[in-house]
Amino acid sequence: MSHDLFEAAKTAMAKAYAPYSKFPVGAALRTEDGRVFTGANIEVASYPEGWCAETTALGHYIMGGGGKIVEIAVIAEHMAKCSPCGGCRQRLAEFCRPDTKLYLCDNTGVAETVTMGDMLPYGFRGDILK
Ligand code: THU
Repeated sequence: MSHDLFEAAKTAMAKAYAPYSKFPVGAALRTEDGRVFTGANIEVASYPEGWCAETTALGHYIMGGGGKIVEIAVIAEHMAKCSPCGGCRQRLAEFCRPDTKLYLCDNTGVAETVTMGDMLPYGFRGDILK
């Protein structure tokens, strides 16, 4: 991947609103036509109502027109290779294919590359609902 997706995730992480966990996370995803959408985690005083960086990025992606996602980068300030939580794996999978690349980052760049299929094997597919 180009380093710019990592940089975009890191820049997004700086905007995290995480006063309760103090665990800032950033996510960036790229569509097949080159658009990049980013997000940070947003927490609220009623803890379960907060949400993850990946979910913020997906909101921007949908509002920006959607499309095929080809790459995703995730970074957390206090954890190398922070991987998306279960809920975010399901949300990301909605808009990805099993071969979509997911970059788990540390503070300097990509630390490990996996695929969405690695992250969510046997995940629920909504095909039957369509
Ligand atoms: N968090 C994310 O933003 N993405 C993940 O995939 C894991 C967890 C956030 C949620 C919460 O604001 C903080 O990290 C601590 O759980």
